[in-house]
Amino acid sequence: MAKFLFVTDLDHTLVGDDQALGELNQQLDRHREQQGTKIVYATGRSLALYRLLLAEKHLLVPDALIAAVGTEIYYNEGDGNPDPAWSKQLSPGWNREVVLATGARFADLVPQPGSEQRPFKVSYHLSQEASVEVLPRLDSLLKQRGLDIQLVYSGGRDLDILPRNGNKGLAVQFLRKVWGIDATRTVVCGDSGNDIALLSVGEPRGIIVGNAMPELRQWYEANQTDYRYMAAGACAGGILEGLKHFGFLP
Ligand code: GLC
Ligand code: MG
Repeated sequence: MAKFLFVTDLDHTLVGDDQALGELNQQLDRHREQQGTKIVYATGRSLALYRLLLAEKHLLVPDALIAAVGTEIYYNEGDGNPDPAWSKQLSPGWNREVVLATGARFADLVPQPGSEQRPFKVSYHLSQEASVEVLPRLDSLLKQRGLDIQLVYSGGRDLDILPRNGNKGLAVQFLRKVWGIDATRTVVCGDSGNDIALLSVGEPRGIIVGNAMPELRQWYEANQTDYRYMAAGACAGGILEGLKHFGFLP
């Protein structure tokens, strides 16, 4: 049972079933101690909201935290600044002011709280009904204005506007290079739209938890391969199931 890189989304993926979480924590902690396995959380949350979750749930200390939908990478429990080498890659084609001014033209876009507006992430709430018409219009307007961005829509309610070079999957790829870990020894887990990049950059082993949102299920159905696994179990229970399926855990 050699070491691997374990990457998981938090809300409704790692977190959601306290009992299964306890069991998974125990197994991962032991694996890290004995084999040097690395544990990474890849969340949409800002560092501030991540800390609120830490106060509520028992989570292992990760080797790195990918926050704000992949636009910030922290080591050492988020002490200090995000990795500047990563932040540097996000600047080309990004202009926050232009993103904000463009977003303001759409009445359906409701800004998320201030804590979730980050240097390389602008976030709104947007209803599923309005999204059908708003997303393509917003995308083409931002591109007309010279920006190189991506729109990430999750859970039928959250819209994140990110630089082209930054998302959860690209952040994992960056960490794989830093640590020298192959995609075949990497497993990523998710439940919603912002996890599509996590599952699709490179060819990591992927676990989709049984309670996944419709957008991720649809994506999985259209992109099935033997290195992606749709779990029957929900949250940490589904992760345990997938880790066994891929042979990372006994
Ligand atoms: C988290 C973040 C939010 C983001 C959402 C989806 O809830 O706090 O800003 O829009 O994830 O990525
Ligand atoms: Mg989630």
